[in-house]
Amino acid sequence: MTERTCLAIVLAAGEGTRMKSARPKVLHEVAGLPLVCHAARAAQAGGRADLAIVAGRQSDDVLKAATNVAPGARLYLQHERLGTAHAVLAAREAIAGGYDDVLVLFADTPLVKAEDIAALRKGLAEGAAVVVMGFEAADPSGYGRLLTDGDRLVAIREDKDCTEAERAVTFCNGGLMAISGEHALSLLEAVGNANAKGEYYLTDIVEIAATRGLKVVATTADEESVLGVNNRIQLAEAESVWQARKRRETMLAGVTLVAPETVHFAHDTQIGADTIVEPNVVFGPGVSIGANVTIHAFSHLEGAIIADHAQIGPFARLRPGARLAEKVKVGNFCEVKNADVAAGAKINHLSYIGDARIGAGANIGAGTITCNYDGFLKHLTQIGAGAFIGSNSALVAPVSIGDNAYVASGSVITAGVPSDALAFGRARQENKDGLGARLRERLKAEKEARAAAKG
Ligand code: UD1
Ligand code: CA
Repeated sequence: MTERTCLAIVLAAGEGTRMKSARPKVLHEVAGLPLVCHAARAAQAGGRADLAIVAGRQSDDVLKAATNVAPGARLYLQHERLGTAHAVLAAREAIAGGYDDVLVLFADTPLVKAEDIAALRKGLAEGAAVVVMGFEAADPSGYGRLLTDGDRLVAIREDKDCTEAERAVTFCNGGLMAISGEHALSLLEAVGNANAKGEYYLTDIVEIAATRGLKVVATTADEESVLGVNNRIQLAEAESVWQARKRRETMLAGVTLVAPETVHFAHDTQIGADTIVEPNVVFGPGVSIGANVTIHAFSHLEGAIIADHAQIGPFARLRPGARLAEKVKVGNFCEVKNADVAAGAKINHLSYIGDARIGAGANIGAGTITCNYDGFLKHLTQIGAGAFIGSNSALVAPVSIGDNAYVASGSVITAGVPSDALAFGRARQENKDGLGARLRERLKAEKEARAAAKG
């Protein structure tokens, strides 16, 4: 069987006024990824589709976001917001391209699953002209109602246009649709705007198709999958559903989450098997973690690549460009940014390591700081394999410390240290015999004299 061709159209022209935001609604994020990208990904996951985005406000930004996940996406503009059917027709040129299946997705509906889309397309493959993604609504108000006759769908009635009897129907339109490419343009062009809102409703193609004797059916998705984001409360709900799914998926893949509900993932977090994530860990975008790693409590990671058997935290912060090799340890209150740390190196306490290369097995003492920034430029610190950096040292970059070198505690290192050398970058200690006892006597006498003067 040859695979059916598919065009997915993502409607992203919503004003989103209820977000109360300067940003278009579809650029608000779930798991660190704009809503429009979630919709685009869902469309692709549901059966390799060519993608068209219909944008309105700030369309350049919307296209830029969408093409990050779907490089080949085509952009169309809906200049006036005249309804969902009108929005779909903005992509008329793409629809005319002769696809077998035309999918319509809403950019404000980020939780659609690949299997939901596959079910829509299966309906078309089985001969339907239109397949609608329905769901049983706990509270149907605001949604279009699916009016059925047996397993056939006869119409979708928008909430504002419902009769009392129709309003009682709880089987609702989730907003996603699959239309046979053969009929798509002619159905969409037949839509009028004689309704309560004076809009061209995409949903009207159901009744038009049914009247023409074409087969129209509905599939059923979970209510969760069709959750639409119209305000910040729904944005938080979508985030919560997304996180719950990701936690389940992560645990089923062999990762231990000690307190799953306290771990926050990004859209692209990757974690290997037998890794343990303790409570209250946050993953920003771009984190990839190997197997058998432990991420201790209260750590924050973003843009970090971590190899097997590493140990991170508690209270560690890994920022973009932190690349930790096998068995590296980064302990409490350490920050690592743009640094390659080779196997077995340890940065155990209270350090800042930025713009650095650290050799295998090096030991970075408590409180070590790479002074990487001079107010204008960033500079590199290189530390050789097996080097030992004494506690509370400041390494003023650019600077290079050789293999197996020692840096004495409390040093300020401004010049290179050769391999195997011991560097003292601090004042030499002097001991004065008996001076401590004499000082103590003088201070004690001073205190007694003051007490006597007060009476
Ligand atoms: C729509 C459906 C309704 C369904 C509900 C599910 C229609 C007419 N109604 O209602 O049956 O139950 O979704 O959430 O389709 N958009 C444009 N241009 C426009 C109008 C809308 O791009 O001119 C986009 C919006 O950005 C949004 C989507 O289309 O992403 C849906 O539009 P919206 O106005 O939110 O429709 P609902 O009233 O929610
Ligand atoms: Ca909506």
